[in-house]
Amino acid sequence: EAPLRTLADRADVRIGTAVDMAALAEDSTYRRTTAREFNSVTAENVMKWEVVEPTRGAYDWSGADALVRYARDRGQAVRGHTLVWHSQLPTWLNSGVADGTIDAAELRGILRKHITTEVKRYKGKIYQWDVVNEVFEEDGSLRNSIWLQKLGPSYIADAFRWAHAADPKAKLFLNDYNVEGINAKSTAYYDLAKRLRAEGVPVQGFGIQGHLAIQYGFPGDVAGNLARFAALGMQTAFTEVDVRMILPSDPEKLAKQATYFRSLLDACLGTRSCKSFTVWGYSDKYSWVPGVFAGQGAATLLDEEFVAKPAYGALREGL
Ligand code: XIL
Repeated sequence: EAPLRTLADRADVRIGTAVDMAALAEDSTYRRTTAREFNSVTAENVMKWEVVEPTRGAYDWSGADALVRYARDRGQAVRGHTLVWHSQLPTWLNSGVADGTIDAAELRGILRKHITTEVKRYKGKIYQWDVVNEVFEEDGSLRNSIWLQKLGPSYIADAFRWAHAADPKAKLFLNDYNVEGINAKSTAYYDLAKRLRAEGVPVQGFGIQGHLAIQYGFPGDVAGNLARFAALGMQTAFTEVDVRMILPSDPEKLAKQATYFRSLLDACLGTRSCKSFTVWGYSDKYSWVPGVFAGQGAATLLDEEFVAKPAYGALREGL
């Protein structure tokens, strides 16, 4: 049977997964399956700021380089994740801002250097970059991060301009969760994207994480949401799809989960603007969900033994 990536090639869409570099190093089944099923990969953690610059000025690219090499050798495209976020920042940065040893002007320079250094390092090797991640609250107000507090809202346009200067060919994305359908948060992104593009800021994509839970229901009007970003001339992507449930799983929950995966994929395949569909891990053995959402899990396509769940078949049929 054809793996997902073969079907995705025919459908002219990228099918991706987040990659856990520890699992990639130690688990040959994981290594083999990641190569067989996906034609796109995203670093689950190793391109985040806390990993690449754990000490100020001392970089560790080992994980990111290893992923880019792995992908190149297997004909996979790489999504870059993520340049500006409130989470997983290095301790030296958080504490320097908190104790005032890093002031606003210095912070802006630090951010510019971070973006420029990382994007240049992988210039020509990354097709989509998540430039800013999770910048809005659920009500559509800007998140009160250190970036907003110290630099003001212009940090977003600055980040896109710096990233574009460093790799003019990479498609630059906004990215967030709970923005699958049309709601206050996704509308805040729509308004922001429209304004930035009118101002000539290089933002080309809207990334929808797609962390769903069957107990919360399927979001409304995903197709309409993708369409309005397409109407702005933007690409769209599902960037971190998983569908969790309250444990234990059962056949009914797994069937429902399969329809959620399939509905997101169908929305993507239904618009030419949607270029990639990435899952946030593909085996329950390595999913982030149980560690973060107490009592929940079974959120991915394969079980802990790498056996396909109904969701895997649903994606195959959809492609
Ligand atoms: C998660 C990783 O999966 C975990 O391993 C890590 O401990 C925390 O971050 N939104 C994002 C991702 O944009 O970067 C997050 O990844 C999941 C939520």
